[in-house]
This record gives sequence, structure tokens and C-alpha cells, in this order.
Amino acid sequence: MRHKDIPISKPSLGEDEWKAVREPIMSGWLTQGSKVAEFEKLFAKRHRRKFACAVSNCSDALQIILEALGVKPGDEVIVPAFTWVATASAVCHCGATPVFVDVDPSTFNLDVSLLEDKISSKTKAIIPVHLFGLCADMKSVAELAGSIPLVEDAACAAGAQLEGKPVGSFSAAAAFSFHPRKSITTGEGGMIVTDDEKLYARIESLRNHGASVSVEQKKLGAQPHLLPDFDLLGHNSRLTDLQAAIGIVQLGKLDRFIEERDWWARYYIKQFAKLDWLQTPALPKKRSHAWQAFVCMVDEDKAGVSRDEIMKRLKDKGIGTRPGTLAVHMLGYYRKTFGLKPEDFPCARDCFLYSMALPLHNCMSAEDYTYVAETVATIL
Ligand SMILES: Cc1ncc(COP(=O)(O)O)c(C=O)c1O
Repeated sequence: MRHKDIPISKPSLGEDEWKAVREPIMSGWLTQGSKVAEFEKLFAKRHRRKFACAVSNCSDALQIILEALGVKPGDEVIVPAFTWVATASAVCHCGATPVFVDVDPSTFNLDVSLLEDKISSKTKAIIPVHLFGLCADMKSVAELAGSIPLVEDAACAAGAQLEGKPVGSFSAAAAFSFHPRKSITTGEGGMIVTDDEKLYARIESLRNHGASVSVEQKKLGAQPHLLPDFDLLGHNSRLTDLQAAIGIVQLGKLDRFIEERDWWARYYIKQFAKLDWLQTPALPKKRSHAWQAFVCMVDEDKAGVSRDEIMKRLKDKGIGTRPGTLAVHMLGYYRKTFGLKPEDFPCARDCFLYSMALPLHNCMSAEDYTYVAETVATIL
């Protein structure tokens, strides 16, 4: 057998994306323009929201949403402890305090039973994360949140659903990522969706330096000598038309990508059912998974070896693996700034230490999947 090299993730791009970038290149219009507008329109429709605003990445998307909601120093924002660092750093960039909540290790999403205790008079927003493409329990979160705005971190979850409703439609606003490890990619990139027109206007302005149409311009209409006013302190977080051209093609493939991943995720779950040391991802009822990643938990006692050793052995067999994601409260900045200890959020800590993502992406062949399944089954 030839030597295998199956990466943990690989974006699925080809001739269609290649052809799509021809138009912006030949037109000379590279930055935010008609392609971004088209991508936004299609994305909003796909996620059943009125407005979509493309930004440079999902980290910016989260920060811009929080700023548009008015989150400021002294405020608190609740975030799960097991997530990518950007969920929490977005809060810190607003000068607010991230209040961590532990996760449910069976879904990797925030543990709703622990949420109520975290809500205080200072809570300005709650950010449930749809980790690895599985929608969080948004109904229960919304019930506890009452009038506190929810911000969905849907970085991993484009195309996922809860009771037939797409992620991104359960909150004041939602943030998506198009990083190459996500289901669809534009290289780097992000998208915000919302139904709230006023919030959208602030978000749109914030992604472009806080620009707004000046009073004079409103009076006179577009004039060669007039520039926008800058009412808000904003960012340059524009997406380019080159990226949007790729995004439009990728969005058209999203359903097929998820369908394929779903088939192979279920194949893995069946193949691994007999392994007592490997807990495969949960499939809660009424939630359709987008399978951004296939993340398992390793029981080291039953395995008799450490997770890290298993990951090394798989690497030697040409199979890429990674820990699921981070226990943010254990990272240097958060540990030191907020005086946190690993045991403060024990489930997040364990997910960080014992989770293992296996390759699941749209560049894998049936032979690759069988090889991974057979190798994992015999790795001990
Ligand atoms: C849960 C989560 N939130 C936010 C982000 C940030 O996304 P981006 O890389 O587009 O800034 C990521 C990216 O990995 C993520 O996984």
C-alpha cells in the first residue's frame, strides 16, 4: 500500500472557484464590491435572515456584533470555556469581561444547566457556540436569557439546523467563519447575519471604519468632493470581491459538502461503536450536524495509553489528528488576567486534554475513510 498522508482537514476547491475569480481580476475591482453584495444576499437567504454583512474573518464578526450591541468596559459576556480563543478575545477587545461557563462533554456545547448562575445584572450578551457544527440547545438558552441578546458563534456551523431552522436564526446576530478548516472557505473570511435593521446598520458601518453618509451628502446626493462621515470608531474588516467570488461558489456546494460529511461521520460512528476507549460524537435528536470536524473523546484508562500517544501513532500511519479545540480558561492570557484554574471548568479541561479530531473532509476518498477506520480500530 502506498504511504498514506491524510490531513485532518483540507478545503475542497477546484476549477469552479478558479473560474469565479477571473471576473474580479479582469475587471480590476478587487475589494468589496458587487461580488460581496451578491455573496451577502445569497448567504442571508440560505440562513433565512434579512441582512448579511461580510467581514474579514469570524473573530472580527464577533467583536463587531458585540460593539454594535454596545458592549463596553464593565459589562460581562457569557462564553463557553471550551471554544476557539476568538469567542473570548472578542469580548476582551470590547473591554468587557468574559464569564466562562462549562460545557457538556457529550455535545461539546455550553452546559445549559450551569447558565443561570452565570447571568448577572452586568450580563450584556451570551455567546453560545455551535461547536464543530452541532447547534447548541438554543431554545433552552433563549428561555434562560430572557431579554439578554444572544450572539451565535456559528464559525463552524454554516448549514447546520435545529428543528429544521438554520443556525444563525436563533439570535440577535450570528457570526460565521470561512477559514479553510471550515465547511466552506474563502481563504480567510467571515459573515454576520441578523434580522435587526438598526443593528445591521451599525454592523455595516463598523466593518468599514465607522463610515456613514454625511449630512451634506444626504442633502446634495453623491458629489465628487464629498467623503463619508465617520460617526463610530470602526475597523477595516472588509471582505474582497476575490474572496466573495470564491464564497459564492462554495456556498452553492455547502449542502453537498454536508451530505457527504454526514454519510462518512455516520460510517465512522458505526465502525467505532465496538471501541470502548473511543467516544464518538453525539447525535442529539432534531439537530442536523454540519460536521465541521469529527471530534471524539479518548478514555485513557480503557485505552491503556495516553491520547497523545494515540495521536502520535496515528501520525506515524499517515493520519492527521488534532485536539478538538481549546479550554480558553487554561490559556496564559485568560489564566493570568482572570485568575482562572484548570479545575474551574473541569469538563472544558477534559475536552481539551482528551478530545481527538479525526480526518473528515470533502477531499477524502472512500479508501481514505476505510483506511482511517481500520487504522483507528487497530491502533492499540
Ligand atoms: C468557534 C470559533 N469561533 C471563532 C472562530 C474564529 O474564526 P476566524 O478564524 O474566521 O476568525 C473560530 C475559528 O476557528 C472558531 O472555531
